[in-house]
Amino acid sequence: MDWILIALAVVAGLALLLKWRRPAWHWLTFGVAFAALRIRFRYAAVMDACHLTVPASRLRLALARWFNKPSPQQRVPHLLWLKPTRTGVRLRIKMRSGQDAFEFSAAADRLRHSFGVHQVTSREIKPGVVEITLTGYDVLKHVQMPAKTDRDLLKIPVALVEDGSVHYRDYREVPHSVTVGATQSGKSVFQRTVIKELAAQPVALVGIDCKKIELGPFARRLSALADNPDDAAALLEALVARMEGIYDVIRREQRISADTSDGEIAANIWDLPEALRPVPIVVTIDEIAELALSTKRNDPRRDRIITALVRLAQLGRAAGIFLDIYGQRFGSELGDGITMLRAQLTGRTVHRVNDESTAKMAFGDISPHAVFAATQIPNTRRGMAVVGYSTGEWTRIRTPHTSMRQAVSACNRHAHLTPDLPELARFRPALDLAPVQAPAAAEAVTEAA
Ligand SMILES: Nc1ncnc2c1ncn2[C@@H]1O[C@H](COP(=O)(O)OP(=O)(O)OP(=O)(O)O)[C@@H](O)[C@H]1O
Ligand SMILES: [Mg+2]
Repeated sequence: MDWILIALAVVAGLALLLKWRRPAWHWLTFGVAFAALRIRFRYAAVMDACHLTVPASRLRLALARWFNKPSPQQRVPHLLWLKPTRTGVRLRIKMRSGQDAFEFSAAADRLRHSFGVHQVTSREIKPGVVEITLTGYDVLKHVQMPAKTDRDLLKIPVALVEDGSVHYRDYREVPHSVTVGATQSGKSVFQRTVIKELAAQPVALVGIDCKKIELGPFARRLSALADNPDDAAALLEALVARMEGIYDVIRREQRISADTSDGEIAANIWDLPEALRPVPIVVTIDEIAELALSTKRNDPRRDRIITALVRLAQLGRAAGIFLDIYGQRFGSELGDGITMLRAQLTGRTVHRVNDESTAKMAFGDISPHAVFAATQIPNTRRGMAVVGYSTGEWTRIRTPHTSMRQAVSACNRHAHLTPDLPELARFRPALDLAPVQAPAAAEAVTEAA
């Protein structure tokens, strides 16, 4: 008897220790089973306590009255299924008539306490069905990306969402993005994570970094790098020229003859035959203010930069040119043309900001709740950000803490993938080391370009 008690005490102690030191392991070993059992057994009671039940139908009430039976109980929304996940539990619930998805999201906090989990989010899947995601522990405290993610060309995992799912940067869906945040809020680490992931893909990376500290170390994987506004203006104009060249190729391919089927008419580089398809380019710009702010009035260099950026943002997608712009602020105080540029940048990410007006620059037209959430990010949670979607939805995310070392070694490891773009050759960063031997794969990529 004694040894059973001792074994139980050891297991309980181990569970507590894991919960304290390794919440992810605790969840996988003890937490998920307990939570699933608790939900199974307490589901009806919790729904009732959280006011998520509806009265019995009029017919059943009338029958009860006629036959003098006790009045029937409240009806509980139907639990379709329950699925344990790496970080929590997902529930699909069929709503009763008269309920709406808003009731469930409004009850999120009550559900969280009743089920004893860290967080609850809910969203409507289809009419009448909501999905509730329970998160077992604070997944954003130590970001651990899942080993298996859904990578694809130009679709990369960059951060963890607060409900435990993965946030992807998908350039083909959201071609251009803007990321703002106060100083030391984690923008450059986010940028580094993106570069580290893109390094392994057959894409060209172009960097503009007038602070001269963030992108220099990635030189081996960059097809072009500008570290001062003069070079940046020339580089952006060279990109516009390349874009126009690509449009010419697309136009030539489009010469529609009578026997061309609709599907074969090229409208962007992905419709071009593989041999003609230019390599996609991701342009990443650290600190937009360095480009857009000028001490002179009507500075011609600044005008060239902004004009080129606006053109790339308007027309770049079809030519496979994508923009990622980072900055502390992104508002009209940066001068003419900035708000027009911002309007073209669909992806919006806001790290910690000190004032509402900065968050409004990104989310003003998306959701006031997202603006509020961005101002609430604590100073201790660097790398945490709010992402807004044009549908008005938003979520909190946090990037893994990618070190400079990790990003640089990914860039060096994949240096052979760096395409040579003749239009941008003069901006190719000078390497102080001997050039890397290009294996056959890199030549294929270069040829495709
Ligand atoms: N995801 C993260 N997890 C943990 N720590 C982070 C994360 N992101 C950033 N940090 C910490 O915050 C520090 C500042 O981050 P970063 O250099 O990215 O800020 P920044 O927004 O680029 O600032 P600035 O505007 O001054 O360039 C980093 O040195 C790192 O220690
Ligand atoms: Mg930075």
